[in-house]
Amino acid sequence: MPIFYVLVGPCAGDLTGLSERVQTLVRTRPGQRVGARRSAAASTIPAMPATHRIALLPGDGIGKEVVAEARKAVDALGLAIEWTHLPWGSDFYLEHGQMMPDDWAATLRAHEAILMGACGWPTVPDHIALWGMILRIRQVLDLWANVRPARLLPGIPTPLAGRTAADIDMVFVRENTEGEYAGVGGRAHQGLSVEVGVETAVFTRAGIERVVRFAFGLAAQRKGVLTSATKSNASRYGYVLWDEVVEEVGAGFPGVRVERVLVDALAARMVSNPGSLDVVVASNLFGDILTDVAAAIQGGMGMAASANTAPGSAEPGLFESVHGSAPDIAGKGVGNPVAAIWSAVLMLEHIGEPAAAAQLMAAIEAVCLTGPRTRDVGGIAGTAEVGDAVVARLRG
Ligand code: NAI
Ligand code: MG
Repeated sequence: MPIFYVLVGPCAGDLTGLSERVQTLVRTRPGQRVGARRSAAASTIPAMPATHRIALLPGDGIGKEVVAEARKAVDALGLAIEWTHLPWGSDFYLEHGQMMPDDWAATLRAHEAILMGACGWPTVPDHIALWGMILRIRQVLDLWANVRPARLLPGIPTPLAGRTAADIDMVFVRENTEGEYAGVGGRAHQGLSVEVGVETAVFTRAGIERVVRFAFGLAAQRKGVLTSATKSNASRYGYVLWDEVVEEVGAGFPGVRVERVLVDALAARMVSNPGSLDVVVASNLFGDILTDVAAAIQGGMGMAASANTAPGSAEPGLFESVHGSAPDIAGKGVGNPVAAIWSAVLMLEHIGEPAAAAQLMAAIEAVCLTGPRTRDVGGIAGTAEVGDAVVARLRG
């Protein structure tokens, strides 16, 4: 029997339900106090289930390698977890003509959370692979809040000269179900010289409002500054609506200073002055691009974790590295598993295991500080060696 949490609805100044659990993690850094969770008696969240049901979706390429390490680390915590291994992805597509089986949504909904690797592989056209899996899951489960912490951990090199861990601690909140990735458009005159492709960005007031409200709530619990990324000078409909909604929602958060920054200027600022940024809210496409920049700043794609959730709903959250299947290094055992293990930390928060989450995060931080590290972050270790070191820290 799947066990779902009952969650309270959104309200100004507060983050709710699943998101609350995720955001305790994203506002945590060494020396910073973690906000206390509401007690079971004081909240609508019932007692945690004895056994957590987690869907394990390794997907393609390096996804399989890093998710194996994340699972190993979670298992070492000794929680009661029942994993369901789902072999979906590009191999599944080659056999069945689709990335996931027809009953995929019901299968995922029978779990509290999904721990995913990546999808996409050279044998399957990329738009088919992504629309057949990750984008579809986000849309159908309506996982509208994509939270991506970008914090430089001590011991990890950043390409930004002169910057240290003290300068880099941002959280991106990416709208995850509409905008430029709404999937609306079409092609006409196919195969002819006059062929045309139309891709339409879709911005709804409700879609913007919920993610912006969530980001304001997060900002209120961090430094009280929210940066909204748009391009409302050149794009004059969707992003202008976005700006208006930001202003309206902001009225309910007098303690948060909001700044509107055009996305191109923001990309430059992330590199030139990352310390000036805290919480950033952005559309689907802009959030996607900016978080690859953020990943580079925090040490590379192997360091960037993410949570896809539907705060206030009973849908299972999906937790995955920001990176893709990395065909260039897949199968070599050299990929960095930290992003995947960090994503598992976010998942543990989501399923109501904050102590285990904090323990695992501390183990990640310790390993990043002392090594072993993979080569993308200046080390020589392999994927499993880093995973083993995290496990050893947990057991030590
Ligand atoms: P990618 O993120 O897979 O790789 C970009 C670069 O980062 C590569 O040089 C890769 O070696 C490196 N890298 C990625 N993860 C790493 C790790 N854990 N440790 C060390 N280095 C790492 O992006 P790319 O190459 O553009 O896409 C590959 C495939 O993944 C494509 O099919 C793409 O559509 C898909 N993709 C899927 C995503 C998802 O499932 N959420 C997200 C991004 C891409
Ligand atoms: Mg991306």
